[in-house]
Amino acid sequence: MESQGITENFSEANVEALAVVVFKDEKPASGLLKDLDKLTGGHIAAVIKSEEFKGEPGDTSLFRFAPGGKVKAKSLLLVGAGDKADYKVSDVCIAAGTATRYLRKCYIKSFALLPRCEGDAAEIAQNAVAGAVISQFELDKYKTKDKDEKSVTKLVVCVEDARETELKKGLSRGQAIGDSMNFTRDLANEPPNILTPTEMANRAQKMAKETGLKCEILDEAKMRKLGMGSLLSVANGSDQPAKMIVLKYTPAKSTAKKGELLALVGKGITFDTGGISIKPAEGMEAMKYDMSGGATVIGTMRAIALLKPSIPILGVVAAVENMPGGSASRPSDIVTASNGKTVEILNTDAEGRLVLADAVAYAENQGATRIVDMATLTGAVIIALGDQNTGIMGNDQAFVDEIIEYGKEAGEGFWQLPLSKEYSKQIKSDIADIKNIGPRGKAGTIMGAVFIQEFIDKAKWAHLDIAGTAWFDTVRPHQAKGPTGVAVRTLLTLVERSQ
Ligand code: BES
Ligand code: ZN
Ligand code: ZN
Repeated sequence: MESQGITENFSEANVEALAVVVFKDEKPASGLLKDLDKLTGGHIAAVIKSEEFKGEPGDTSLFRFAPGGKVKAKSLLLVGAGDKADYKVSDVCIAAGTATRYLRKCYIKSFALLPRCEGDAAEIAQNAVAGAVISQFELDKYKTKDKDEKSVTKLVVCVEDARETELKKGLSRGQAIGDSMNFTRDLANEPPNILTPTEMANRAQKMAKETGLKCEILDEAKMRKLGMGSLLSVANGSDQPAKMIVLKYTPAKSTAKKGELLALVGKGITFDTGGISIKPAEGMEAMKYDMSGGATVIGTMRAIALLKPSIPILGVVAAVENMPGGSASRPSDIVTASNGKTVEILNTDAEGRLVLADAVAYAENQGATRIVDMATLTGAVIIALGDQNTGIMGNDQAFVDEIIEYGKEAGEGFWQLPLSKEYSKQIKSDIADIKNIGPRGKAGTIMGAVFIQEFIDKAKWAHLDIAGTAWFDTVRPHQAKGPTGVAVRTLLTLVERSQ
C-alpha cells in the first residue's frame, strides 16, 4: 500500500474519498466538521439528526460531496470513534481499519484519513497506516476462486501542523508493523500439513535472510545434546522432527546496559492433538493456531529487523507437533529437562509448558536478562478472560506492570493473574521434581505459568497466555476474523521504550 502524509489542506489530497473521524453525539457545529457539512450540503447534520449515524466505534456513513466544491475527493466517509474523552492514538488504527474495510467494499482504492487526534504526528501516522494494512488481511489464501480481490492501495494521512519528516517516519513504521502483524497472522492461519515445524523454521530463515537477522535452527540431535528432554518428549509422537528457531537482532550501535538482553520466546506447536491424552474431535481443527506464540515471536523479530532499535533482541521458538504416535509420551512418563529438573508427564495435552521449559532455559543460557514468553497455553484463560484480554503473569512486578502499560498504549488488553509459592507447591510431583498439571479444574492458567517459572533462573520473566486473544471468531469492522497478531504491537512498544 502506498502512503503519504499531508500537513495542510486535505481538500488538495488526490484521492477518491475522505474519511473523517466523528465522535459520539458530536454535531457539525464548528471547525472541520462544520466545513465538511457545508461541502456535503448539510448531509452530516442530517445523518446525525436522523440517528442513522451515531458516532459509535464501527459506525460508518458514506455520501458524495456536492458537485462543484473545492475538494478533490468525490466522497466522504464518516467513521465513528466513540467518546471523544476516551479517544487515543491507538484508536486511529481502528478508525483507519474500519474506513479501509468499508471503502474497499465500495471499490474505492484511495482515501485520505482525517484522524482528529492530538499528539505525536509520527505515532498518528504509524497507527493509521498499520490499521489500514492490518484491516486488509483475509483468510482466503487457499481459495482458488471467489477471492475478494478489492483493496485500498493508497492512504493519505492528514495531520495539521505536523513536521513532514515526522509524518514520513510514522508512515514507514506503520507499514513495517502492519506487514509484520500480517506475517504473524499468515503463519497462524496456515494448515498444519503445510506449516510443519520444519516449514516454520524455513519461513523464519527466509524472513531472516530478507531482513538481515541472524537465524539458527537447532535440530533434534543438537537439542538432545543440550539435554532438552522435556521439549523432545512432545515431538516423540510425531513423524515431524522438532525445530528450535533462534533469531538474533544486533544493533549497529547498542544503547543497552552491558550484559542486558531481552528475549522473546514462543510456543510453536504446529498442531496440538493432545497426544495420548487426546482431545475430542469437535473443535480440534482450531489447534492449528497453537503455534501463534511462535508466530508472534517471528513476526515481532521481523518488525524489529525493519525498525532497527538500539538494543539487542533474541527470539526463540519451540516448533513441535503434538501427535499420538507409537513413540508418543504416556501419562506417567518422566523426562529430564535441560536445566536438570525431572518432570512427571501426567497429561500429554499440557505440552506447551513442556516445550517452553527448554526454550526459556535456552534463552537464559544465551544471556537473556529479560524474557517474555507467548503461548496459547490454556483453555482456562479463555474461560477467565475471553478474547479481550491476554493473561499475564511474571516474577517481577515492575516488568509485568510495564508490559500492561505498553499494552494500553498499543490498544491491547492484558490482565494479571497471581503467582505464589502456594501455587508452585501444587505442581510438586510425588516421584519427580515437578508434574506438568496441577489439581483438576483449579487455576489452570496459573498452573501453566508456575511450571514455566521452574525453568527461569535469574531473568526477569513475563508469561503471556494468548489462547483467548490470538484468534477472533467473528469479523469486526476493522479486522477479519481469524488470527489477530496479538502482542506484536505491545512487544514493539516494550522494545522501543527499552532503548
Ligand atoms: N493448546 C492448548 C490450550 C488451548 C485450548 C488453546 C483451547 C486454545 C484453545 C494446550 O496445549 C492444552 O491443551 N492445555 C490444556 C491443559 C490441561 C491438560 C492441563 C487445557 O487447557 O485444557
Ligand atoms: Zn495441549
Ligand atoms: Zn497446546
